[in-house]
Amino acid sequence: MTTPQHDKQAAHFPVPTSDAHTLTADEYLSPEIYERERKAIFSRTWQIVARTADLTRPGDFVPANILDEPIVLVHGLDGTISGFHNVCRHRAGQVALSKGNRKSLQCRYHGWTYGLDGALKNCPEMDQTKGFRKEDFGLIPVRTAVFGPFIFANLSADAPPLEEVLGAIPSEIAAAGFPMDEMQLVERRDYIVECNWKVYVDNYLEGYHIPIAHPDLFKELDYDAYKVEPYRFYSKSLAPIRDLKEGEVHGVDRRFIRSGEGEDDALYYWCFPNMMLNLYPDNLSLNLVIPLGPNRTLTIFEWYFASPGTGPGWESMQQGIAFSDQIQQEDIVICEQVQRGLKSSAYTSGRFSALRENGVHHFQSLVREFLASEATPR
Ligand code: FES
Ligand SMILES: [Fe+2]
Repeated sequence: MTTPQHDKQAAHFPVPTSDAHTLTADEYLSPEIYERERKAIFSRTWQIVARTADLTRPGDFVPANILDEPIVLVHGLDGTISGFHNVCRHRAGQVALSKGNRKSLQCRYHGWTYGLDGALKNCPEMDQTKGFRKEDFGLIPVRTAVFGPFIFANLSADAPPLEEVLGAIPSEIAAAGFPMDEMQLVERRDYIVECNWKVYVDNYLEGYHIPIAHPDLFKELDYDAYKVEPYRFYSKSLAPIRDLKEGEVHGVDRRFIRSGEGEDDALYYWCFPNMMLNLYPDNLSLNLVIPLGPNRTLTIFEWYFASPGTGPGWESMQQGIAFSDQIQQEDIVICEQVQRGLKSSAYTSGRFSALRENGVHHFQSLVREFLASEATPR
């Protein structure tokens, strides 16, 4: 049933998927469009930049980046988490080069010192500089928000708050009884993929390629029931694991079976532009898709567990990590092929399966909407 919250979060489709064309090759390849995406998309959306585990004590700070914008996240002496551009207001040195714990942040260049609230506290030998006032030279703040184990930041002042962007995700996770705040990072794997970041996201957002590209995964899923539900800034994939068929043996015919109970409670979310959250009954995996250039992408996979090393879910998560690695290798091959195909003089644009690729079309519509908008879309 649709709730009012869902209505408010309805996806915008300027053209129905059945009438739409895919992004053009140029939209994946052009360095100029890549530059525009950095400003119009990555500087206006909530990005996961750190973990709450990095900032447990007052005085903890951790540097991070949103593409190539250096920022620093701080656990203030008043207990609040905040963020700043990691750029000294003097001549642009950096005030945090590594994780640490201090009562102030000191630039390593000429020693200007800032409080954990960003205020410039000490700047030696500036007293003969005309009209210079310390209060005008604090670190520039960056918006932050916390959800579960993740710290988000947003470089835009006019972007909607994180809660609004996440829509029904937090309430659905809470309703499933998932212990979001107890999640601890247990494993991280990084993969470099030689493709545009949108090629990778497109691929994540449809199940259409599963029968051909992931034969082992295809055996596990109820493909007919696979679907993507798009909302304003995120989509939810429903990818039920199918039951064992008569005569099939767990561990022989089927590699990845989550042990029956709670099976239907798996939740898969993608949030525009580059974050995927996969929730199982007792663990969580996060995928981040970080553009490194028009033709190069870093994908970060992280696994979180409430009580590492314990319970029946632990074994199943370890299996899940190995299986996810296999699927990722298959996806990397496909994405890199697509990137080569996009460069061909023979290809400009394609069409979507209206039945299977509404999620890809939703993402591509958001890309176009953000690139075309003067203000951050709401
Ligand atoms: S650049 Fe930071 S003190 Fe000079
Ligand atoms: Fe895939």
